[in-house]
Amino acid sequence: MSDTDLAALQQEFTTALAAAKDAASAERVKSDWLGRTGKLRSLTEQLGKLPPDQKKARGKAINDLKLACEAAAEARLRELSASGPKAAPADVIDVTLPGARPRLGRRHPIYATMDEMRAIFAKLGFEAAYGPEIETAYYNFVSLNIPLDHPAAEPFDTWYLDDPDAATRPYRFLLRSHTSPVQMHVMEGRKPPIRVVVPGKVFRTDPADASHLPVFHQMEGLMVEENVTFADLKGVLSIAMKELFGAKTETRFRPSFFPFTEPSAEVDVSCLLCGGGGCPACKGSGWIEVLGCGMVHPRVLEYAKIDPEKYSGFAFGMGVERIAMLKLGVPDIRHFIRSHPLFLRQW
Ligand code: DAH
Repeated sequence: MSDTDLAALQQEFTTALAAAKDAASAERVKSDWLGRTGKLRSLTEQLGKLPPDQKKARGKAINDLKLACEAAAEARLRELSASGPKAAPADVIDVTLPGARPRLGRRHPIYATMDEMRAIFAKLGFEAAYGPEIETAYYNFVSLNIPLDHPAAEPFDTWYLDDPDAATRPYRFLLRSHTSPVQMHVMEGRKPPIRVVVPGKVFRTDPADASHLPVFHQMEGLMVEENVTFADLKGVLSIAMKELFGAKTETRFRPSFFPFTEPSAEVDVSCLLCGGGGCPACKGSGWIEVLGCGMVHPRVLEYAKIDPEKYSGFAFGMGVERIAMLKLGVPDIRHFIRSHPLFLRQW
């Protein structure tokens, strides 16, 4: 085959391309000629039979033909797709299409509740304070007037992080079983007047059931100033409970015991469902227990090097999950960690 034949081939290809009236048929022409089993392929195969002195020139001529055909095919394809009905090239954004709406996350109901509680106490002059989740037995127990080896430490079902026989027991590490140790960190770090709330995670060896989780949240409160009395405690908590559960909410203080407060009390609020008349939610009593509190024990102030003759204070602690369950009507605490999207998207 001579160079004239090659020119004829190119002419034939150009005619076939021009006859293709849409992109699909242009593609077909392209692959008939240039594809792996295409017409131009056999030209290359014939090269091998030529005498060596002709091979080079012939090979270049075939290659030039291929390149010219490829360029012509691309040009034709571009032309066809530009004039066809689907004219928009892939990289053009159609601004008339509806947008892809990003799915927004939301605050977990426990953290939303904690934020709400924090905001209520902020209005009463309490700022938020935080402390470590890994504590020593000193802060979790001893400094709060809970002797180690004393039954008072037992209800806390503590996760210890080191060897139970470790020699220096007050310095054993543990996961804090309540937020109360942060009272001590705050009092060590600043002088009265002190008004803080401490939201945070706490840990106990409780197995999970409808009302317990091994990891849950508490919010601690502490106020230490001159002349703080039980009346201040009652005032602050009854206002806070009205803010939290609604203006009609009544509060009731029942005598109780905590090692770090004296006197101590447990606080009930009037049942959110029946308003105090008695219903299954409050087991007929009209009241629901929500927190523990009391006047800071003088020994706790002494541990913090605050003079109990000059200063007094009150403290309180409540379970955030419990408050959230009451406010949102969640019957089982485990729902909060099951994270079912339908459950979490309700609020
Ligand atoms: N720390 C207690 C607990 O986890 C709750 C508590 C009760 C905190 C009375 C206080 C308080 O500050 O005064 O059970």
